[in-house]
Amino acid sequence: ASSDRIEDQEQLYIMGELEIEKHAQYINNLEKKKDFESMVMEHLRMSGAYWGLTTLDLMGKIEDVDQEVVVSWVLQCQHDCGGFSGNVGHDPHILYTLSAVQILALLDKLDVIDADKIASYIMGLQQEDGSFAGDEWGEIDTRFSYCAICCLSILHRLDKIDVGKATQYIASCKNFDGGFGCTPGGESHAGQIFCCVGALAISGALTHVDRDLLGWWLCEREVKTGGLNGRPEKLADVCYSWWVLSSLIMIDRVHWISKEKLKNFILDCQDREHGGISDRPDDAVDVFHTFFGVAGLSFLEYPGLKPIDPAYALPVHVVDRIFFGKPHKQ
Ligand code: FPP
Ligand code: ZN
Repeated sequence: ASSDRIEDQEQLYIMGELEIEKHAQYINNLEKKKDFESMVMEHLRMSGAYWGLTTLDLMGKIEDVDQEVVVSWVLQCQHDCGGFSGNVGHDPHILYTLSAVQILALLDKLDVIDADKIASYIMGLQQEDGSFAGDEWGEIDTRFSYCAICCLSILHRLDKIDVGKATQYIASCKNFDGGFGCTPGGESHAGQIFCCVGALAISGALTHVDRDLLGWWLCEREVKTGGLNGRPEKLADVCYSWWVLSSLIMIDRVHWISKEKLKNFILDCQDREHGGISDRPDDAVDVFHTFFGVAGLSFLEYPGLKPIDPAYALPVHVVDRIFFGKPHKQ
């Protein structure tokens, strides 16, 4: 093991390390300016805030954030129906409702919201066939099944929906290649696979997954550069270190890819001068890929990063606090 460590050190020297300080500064600057303009569009600011804050926590830098300001802004985005919007004055959507709940879980502020009200909003989006609409306009997608199940589980309100029907619907989106799509018959896509496997893992229904077949499809996402792509013939992209690795971990097949090469691919996508991580080397950085790069490195046990939970997409210590209560003060 000690010679492994020496090799790791040598590799780090060649590739350069993860620029934790720079990335923290980059995210904090987005927060201070209250302006994600060039990074994410303002209507999805709730998810941008979740990506940024989770990344800070994984790097041990969440203390730098004014948590009161964040919580009061999150609360301003809640609507009478119980759902949250991507920013103040926008329409509620299940995606932003999950991000809002994840932010409050991260900051240990779940007690400031009415869990039943949020649960009834999500309940109202479940359809007869078990699927979920994203909002009142009715688009159906397994992404929304994941949002519903993850959010309700964090709120300890999974019993408010028909979980059996929800997992049956997800199973109906499984393809011959072992992957999952957004609706029945939809093409397998790594992002969608994360959603389906995550929702099934949280519901205790992973028996619907053919682990070897899906594991094979997922590890085939590895390309020569060491990065991962989302579908056959596509370019490698840092966000797939999250979508693919989290899925492989949940089905216990993560040893099927080369961790070392992937680590180097992610480190190579850093903007070492201004902070932030991009989708592939030399592209412009954004908060989305900064999160997925750091989260990917956390899966790869990069030194100095906290572990992240592959199903809830939250730091493990936060998930432990949700389900096992607060740690005792020393
Ligand atoms: C692909 O993105 C990603 C997906 C289809 C999955 C999105 C999942 C969520 C929004 C659920 C919440 C996620 C977390 C981590 C809590 P893309 O449109 O960039 O795909 P492309 O590479 O094919 O363009
Ligand atoms: Zn991407």
